[in-house]
Amino acid sequence: MTTPTIELKPSASPLSDAEREAILASPGFGRHFTDHMVTIKWTEGRGWHEGQLVPYAPISLDPATNVLHYAQEIFEGLKAYRRPDGSVATFRPDQNALRFQRSARRLAMPELPVETFVEACDALVRQDKAWVPAHGGEESLYLRPFMIATEVGLGVKPANEYLFLVIASPAGAYFPGGVKPVSIWVSEDRVRAVPGGMGDAKTGGNYAASLLAQAEAAAKGCDQVCYLDAVEHKWVEELGGMNLYFVYGDKIVTPTLTGSILEGVTRDSLLTVARDLGYEAEEGRVSLDQWRRDAENGTLTEVFACGTAAVITPVGTVKLDGTQWQHSGGEPGEVTLRLRRALLDIQRGTADDKHGWMHQL
Ligand code: COI
Repeated sequence: MTTPTIELKPSASPLSDAEREAILASPGFGRHFTDHMVTIKWTEGRGWHEGQLVPYAPISLDPATNVLHYAQEIFEGLKAYRRPDGSVATFRPDQNALRFQRSARRLAMPELPVETFVEACDALVRQDKAWVPAHGGEESLYLRPFMIATEVGLGVKPANEYLFLVIASPAGAYFPGGVKPVSIWVSEDRVRAVPGGMGDAKTGGNYAASLLAQAEAAAKGCDQVCYLDAVEHKWVEELGGMNLYFVYGDKIVTPTLTGSILEGVTRDSLLTVARDLGYEAEEGRVSLDQWRRDAENGTLTEVFACGTAAVITPVGTVKLDGTQWQHSGGEPGEVTLRLRRALLDIQRGTADDKHGWMHQL
């Protein structure tokens, strides 16, 4: 694997400082983009080309470009945080780089070297540092690395050309209510991923597959859809775009990775953060019946969702056709909030980074 360098071709921001500051005061999620992007091409025979940091702009694609027809695409999500001294750091970018390689393998795409992935993110954040929101609030800079098949043609086969890009977007809370508990509708029929499928790869197809059930959840007044396994329709897997945790007093449990669940970096980090705080933390299979029973008998004390975008978001109401229940009286639970605070303190640089997770720029 060759390691491409990144050539800088920046230009002045099209926005004034005042316009950028107005966006940073209330960025929402995924609505505004910074001034630059990184692009790196891959072609068969040559491999990875030199990367380029260029002004953020539309990309032009032939209508017969492979990705538009057969969805050979993968992506990542990670965040850059402003620290108390004004410097900036990203959270575990190597883990996103490694997952990007696993996703690439699953979709028969070339693997980008870990150091190139990290350097591409660093180059963009360094250039657009003014877009990293101020320290102290919920906001951060969300980075979206992704790769698409760019060969032109309608043959169904792995493409012979790809484009890797990194774009960045200032981000506030993913759910408009912030840490207010979200409501969940459990889809008992539609599934997100099947054994042997692509559920553990971060590819757009999994998110496309989740949209109809997500729309059904919204029609039932819920914020997110929750998927069960595709074989027995019994075991809890994940939400449309985030992992789940169940809190049993001093013990937290997240569904075991079965191959159809995305291996979230936040999910993984919380197993460690929870143990550091003295909780028991484990992976295990949780059935829908057990979820309902333990919520009713009070042993299941809290439930929360987690992901890069969602951070840690409490789950309030859970709905199924014909029944519903609520966690923590519809308020954020104590363990959920403690874990959230502990993780954010590491990410924002106000707590000891004892696992060496922060990548300082
Ligand atoms: C992330 O958390 O980074 C994701 O990719 C999930 C998506 C719902 C924004």
